[in-house]
Amino acid sequence: MTIQIAPSLMSADFTRLADEIATVESVADLLHLDVMDGHFVPNMTIGPAVIKACRKVSKLPFDCHLMIEHPQDYIGAFLDAGADMISIHIEAEPHLQRALQMIRDGGAKAGIAINPATPAESLSTAIEFCDYVLVMTVNPGFGGQKFIEPVVPKIRQIHRMVVERGLKVAIEVDGGIDATTAPAVVSAGATVLVAGSAVFGQKDRRRAIEMIRNAVVSVKA
Ligand code: DX5
Ligand code: ZN
Repeated sequence: MTIQIAPSLMSADFTRLADEIATVESVADLLHLDVMDGHFVPNMTIGPAVIKACRKVSKLPFDCHLMIEHPQDYIGAFLDAGADMISIHIEAEPHLQRALQMIRDGGAKAGIAINPATPAESLSTAIEFCDYVLVMTVNPGFGGQKFIEPVVPKIRQIHRMVVERGLKVAIEVDGGIDATTAPAVVSAGATVLVAGSAVFGQKDRRRAIEMIRNAVVSVKA
């Protein structure tokens, strides 16, 4: 199973985004973009305008993680901005299937993001309508937080659901992922690893990404 590394731009230097993106352009698999509204999470970051600007300087697939209320109202804006993947939080969207369909109709991959305290069972129906599940391994809102280890069995549970139903749904993990924590999530079934401080918080980004890749190279789910 190929593991994809998605550096989170949230830990980059916001005064020089184009240069920062260039440091991961040839080594990362995806670029993870964290959108926060100050309501769903107690922080604010970037929106469609900044993502649209970044789109001009990168060929990486853009993985947009919406940590916002009423995500359905903004799907069009993120599709226009150049998102290749859009995840919305299950806790924020009462009409999940409709929202996921809007993302797919717009030509992007549709993801369901799930907070650490939200049980795997809540995905039971919606998982049939998504391309990936983004499992949060910290409470969303900030970079550099400590990995919440008790989420690992939930990753395994979601992985089992995917395998048993024969679905084509990838599992992405986000929060506190580095070379130390990555093996546990990969052995539980994750194949897409978001890393903010473990990549953009480091001087040598190429080496930082390689360290994570090397840590999981022989790990099997
Ligand atoms: C947190 C964001 C993450 C964040 C991860 O709410 O969704 O993508 O940037 O940062 P690290 O890898 O430092 O935990
Ligand atoms: Zn994120």
